[in-house]
Amino acid sequence: MGKHVNVVEIGPRDGFQSISCMMIPTKVKLEIIEAILAAGVKTLQCTSFVSPKAIPQMQDAAKIAAYMLEKHPDIETFALVPNFQGAKLAAEAGLKKVAPVISLSASHNQNNVRRTHQESFDELKRIMDTFPELELDLDVATAFGCPFEGRMTTSALVDFVGKLHDMGIRQFNICDTIGVAYPAQVREAFGALLTAFPDARFSAHIHDTRNMGILNSLEAVRCGIDTIQTTLGGLGGCPFAPGASGNLSTEDMVWMLNEMGYDTGISFSKLLAAAKDQVKVIAGNYSGHHINVEAETPCKA
Ligand code: COA
Ligand code: ZN
Repeated sequence: MGKHVNVVEIGPRDGFQSISCMMIPTKVKLEIIEAILAAGVKTLQCTSFVSPKAIPQMQDAAKIAAYMLEKHPDIETFALVPNFQGAKLAAEAGLKKVAPVISLSASHNQNNVRRTHQESFDELKRIMDTFPELELDLDVATAFGCPFEGRMTTSALVDFVGKLHDMGIRQFNICDTIGVAYPAQVREAFGALLTAFPDARFSAHIHDTRNMGILNSLEAVRCGIDTIQTTLGGLGGCPFAPGASGNLSTEDMVWMLNEMGYDTGISFSKLLAAAKDQVKVIAGNYSGHHINVEAETPCKA
């Protein structure tokens, strides 16, 4: 068996949050989650604790978290939190791990969480001081490019991660929020991060705007990154990043890794069935992303 890669499913957050024209019933979200877990997914971002005014789709966050903790205590479940209030609600719901989000680009940070960098850092410090037992996996959004400021440099990314590392953060999810990274940039970025912060853990979160999702995620794996975030059916997109399209789809990533001999522990055929079922439920409401569910290919798992 080849090297293990943890494919982390984040569709129930990054995917569902992009659906604004219908409220997906909680029961349906849970059915989709069950199908994802049945395929072998072991780590799941199940929701986000955000303002229901900002993202009404996530207003059932506490119910989803409670379900996961009760029914699937063996699954590593976490949620995105944009601020202190979100972290508090997540901790009260019983979650042991959250993903605070701060954008490398100051303008996207302002647009997304309505805070300056300093305000976000101060709020993160407050979260760390108040909930020292809460595991933090920090989302560095717009790490490769920003809808307002354009291309982000690797040196800016390393400086930014350095500030957070100084604060004590050791887990970073490096996000291509609008899908503008390219393989050489991904290699340069992860190479620099792994060299500068050998005691930190990094994962990759790549959107698929230019069909670079699979290339960029593979590049990250080749750099030594063993945790990759994807969404079932490639559903996704940040509502506060103009032009953001879907994520790399979990089934495409799992298919490639399985075929290449990596150990994902996830069944491609079960995932594909889950993606097809999801399309039926959310038919017509996919935002921008192609979902090629007919492209079934013989596979191992
Ligand atoms: N969970 C639930 N409610 C929240 C909340 C959270 N994490 N953060 C803020 N709120 C509520 C407040 O209680 C307040 O409600 P009220 O009007 O009924 O009193 C309202 O939202 C506004 O609060 P305010 O203090 O002005 O907002 P804030 O500055 O603390 O929060 C954001 C602003 C950006 C955090 C909020 O708009 C948000 O959650 N945005 C979503 C960001 C996101 O998910 N982006 C995509 C993923 S990267
Ligand atoms: Zn995303």
